Amino acid sequence: MQNVLSFFGRIAGLAVLLVCAARTVHGAELPPVETLQRLMTDPAQAVQVYEPHLSVGDRHVAIRYVGYPAAAVFERILGKDWQGKGETVEFRALDGYVSRLPVRRFLRERAYLVFARQDGAPFTVNNLRQNEKDVPLGPWYLIWDNIANPALIAEGARNWPYQVKEISLVAVSDAALLPKGLDPRFRPGAALVKTHCLQCHKVNGFGGEKFEGNLAEIARDSDRADFLRLLLVPAAQRDGATMPALSDRLPEAERRRIAGAIFDYLRAVPVLP
Ligand code: HEC
Repeated sequence: MQNVLSFFGRIAGLAVLLVCAARTVHGAELPPVETLQRLMTDPAQAVQVYEPHLSVGDRHVAIRYVGYPAAAVFERILGKDWQGKGETVEFRALDGYVSRLPVRRFLRERAYLVFARQDGAPFTVNNLRQNEKDVPLGPWYLIWDNIANPALIAEGARNWPYQVKEISLVAVSDAALLPKGLDPRFRPGAALVKTHCLQCHKVNGFGGEKFEGNLAEIARDSDRADFLRLLLVPAAQRDGATMPALSDRLPEAERRRIAGAIFDYLRAVPVLP
């Protein structure tokens, strides 16, 4: 009996593995700071960046954090051949935020996983765009060496996930975003939703977990002008909104164009059950 049970247990375990393997090629919880410190060959280093959550307009706030090059952590946690295991690195945060970034981005730009501030101040940040104060950044925070890099500065905080607890290499399928029947002229809108919205929201079950619901359904129940205003100036549409304004480092006309393309895509994409 014991054997039969463990046999079925193993089959069930295998089935779970197979289902996951379809997407997550290799994933791991990030260990606590002290454990990773023991695993890393080189000591943690200080890195100075312009903190995008605190920088407003041309006033850049420089902060020094302490941590490790992201590529070195991936090598330790995901294996030496991490660059060949999937096209996308996925970061999952304690608050449901999911950030998916191409592997090749980490080969081109310098990113760090940090765990403290060098000046000993609390490891928190005021997220000005999301109306949130003293947000804890730990256990791990992904930052980019943006000081001499205007393109990275222009991205704002979008690719700086904090409270990161898990990293994975994934094969991301866009099938849910581009179902059959979607007019090809809405494809650019799908790409914009991926860039600007799916860290927190879902379309047809695909995306982050910070907010419940399917954006495609929400858009169908929304007025175009109200929806665009919510994306461009969330605080104007709601008191105490914690959603960040759409890329507020881009020119206004460009922001409007992106918001419009996003709405039109969300209205057009067939809602999957
Ligand atoms: C950093 C996370 C985050 C990102 C990125 C984000 N949102 Fe939100 N969004 C929220 C949160 C949180 C709320 C809940 C209301 C609030 O606190 O502002 C929300 C609310 C909304 C609502 C209102 C939903 C309802 O039923 O009341 C819509 C619509 C919406 N977001 C659309 C978008 C679109 C479209 C994008 C991309 C351009 C986007 N959001 C990007 C976090 C985010």
